[in-house]
Amino acid sequence: MEVVIRQHDQQCGVTAADIVADAVRCGATTLGLATGSSPLSVYRELIRRHRKEGLSFADVQAFLLDEYVGLPPSHPQSYAHVIRAEFTDHVGIDSARVHSPNGIADDIFTAATEYDTQIGTSGPIDVQLLGIATNGHIGFNEPGSSLGSRTRVKTLTEQTRHDNARFFTGVDEVPRHVITQGLGTICEARHLVLIATGSRKAEAVAAAVEGPLTASYPASVLQLHPHVTPVVDEAAAGQLKNADFYRYALKNKPPQQKY
Ligand code: F6R
Repeated sequence: MEVVIRQHDQQCGVTAADIVADAVRCGATTLGLATGSSPLSVYRELIRRHRKEGLSFADVQAFLLDEYVGLPPSHPQSYAHVIRAEFTDHVGIDSARVHSPNGIADDIFTAATEYDTQIGTSGPIDVQLLGIATNGHIGFNEPGSSLGSRTRVKTLTEQTRHDNARFFTGVDEVPRHVITQGLGTICEARHLVLIATGSRKAEAVAAAVEGPLTASYPASVLQLHPHVTPVVDEAAAGQLKNADFYRYALKNKPPQQKY
């Protein structure tokens, strides 16, 4: 892992946007997108570069990590809707090229399997953006998720439903079930970029980066992936034991690598 520690959320957004923009300029065509608050600064920066610097997403398709069961794409809190409003509509990625699990399918279990297959056949995902929850989930792989899991239907923890209630009129409106890419599915992406900001995420970040490999902290599976870049602000880095070394390593990178 290459841990990048930045001062603030906005700088994390710039660093993660650098990674995505470099990849797209070098021919990456498949992006994996997260929703929630963490990647918003990345999306804002990419939209700015698209408008001001002509960064083109003309050849890009996108796959979402997850979707609520029961919310149609027209629902303002469905992730299919959120990602268009926050990002893809603003950079010219046609909605037909923005793929998400079908949370209103008659058979959501088959829909999950089909989504996994679609990622496999259209992929691999070149760069996958990830957020992390306070309980260590990525995608909606809640604690206890198999580290090799595939896209499937999951039940949200009450903590996650409360965390996400801010996007709804109340916790009762937050669906109980989701379709999420599995941890095994996520780990097939070429480059994973995890964005975490704020002290609330510090424990989860430390567990993901430095803790034991365990289903109790699903994000610890990232330790098995050959190319992961956690981009965290100082507050989210607060519990990293090796933070000083990560800063040192970033300043003393081998010459062929860049940031
Ligand atoms: C969203 C997702 C989740 C969030 C996580 C953190 O697509 O996959 O894993 O990234 O719940 O959410 P925020 O960023 O809102 O704190």
